[in-house]
Amino acid sequence: MSQYLSTDVTKVTTNTLMKMRQQGERIAMLTAYDYSIAKLLDMAKIDVVLVGDSAANVMAGYTTTLPITLNEMIYHASSVVRAVKRALVVVDMPFGTYQGNSKVALNSAIRIMKESGADAIKLEGGAEVIESIDRILSAGIPIMGHLGLTPQSINKFGTYAVRATTEEEADQLRKNALLLQEHGCFSLVLEKIPATLAKEVTESLQIPTIGIGAGRHTSGQVLVFHDMMGITQQFTPRFLRRYLNLSEEIVGAIEHYISDVKENTFPNESEQY
Ligand code: KIV
Repeated sequence: MSQYLSTDVTKVTTNTLMKMRQQGERIAMLTAYDYSIAKLLDMAKIDVVLVGDSAANVMAGYTTTLPITLNEMIYHASSVVRAVKRALVVVDMPFGTYQGNSKVALNSAIRIMKESGADAIKLEGGAEVIESIDRILSAGIPIMGHLGLTPQSINKFGTYAVRATTEEEADQLRKNALLLQEHGCFSLVLEKIPATLAKEVTESLQIPTIGIGAGRHTSGQVLVFHDMMGITQQFTPRFLRRYLNLSEEIVGAIEHYISDVKENTFPNESEQY
């Protein structure tokens, strides 16, 4: 609340996203894990900053999102919150902090909100985590759901391939989407599912859907910042549009610096005291 009182910027809230959905204005979401990048996203007027557990991959170099801890997510989230004045900040609940025991889930969500100052949390799954969802919502913590490809379940599925391609899985996703809305989630991420299914699910809901690899008929889109900026190189799924090739630019600049140092042309006279 103090954030609203101490700034003249109009903050994006979960109500703003609902209004955007109703008015057909698309929602733009990107990930950030640190202060400097989050500040740039907010300057550019992104609607939602997601402190994704993809931090496990792009910040820490793990091959899955499973190892990242609650303390690590809170560290990333509080760095982001210090930078962001306008966007809605949503934080992923890491693997193992909400499945199975709804009291643990509530404690984890409260720690994220209290210690980072974020606006909302996101968690993966449908009916299997509904007890945790109910308990977290009962404390007044807004929840963004996440269906389709749920990276925290990679060991169950064994592949990052497109999800819900069978009628059985598609039907389960439709039911889970409605269930999450009924129980009070304010929005849903739909990851890597057929575009026709994402369109149908979006049209069946009142809350906004945010797609990644789910076509263009969702209420908004999300990408991982390091992927869309071309900082990560090996990850090249069909859905990823690269807006820059930063890895080349950064390596080029580092090589330039190294040669300046070796040739003793840096620093020059105007760069010294
Ligand atoms: O962790 C993450 O970055 C995500 C997005 C890909 C939706 O969950």
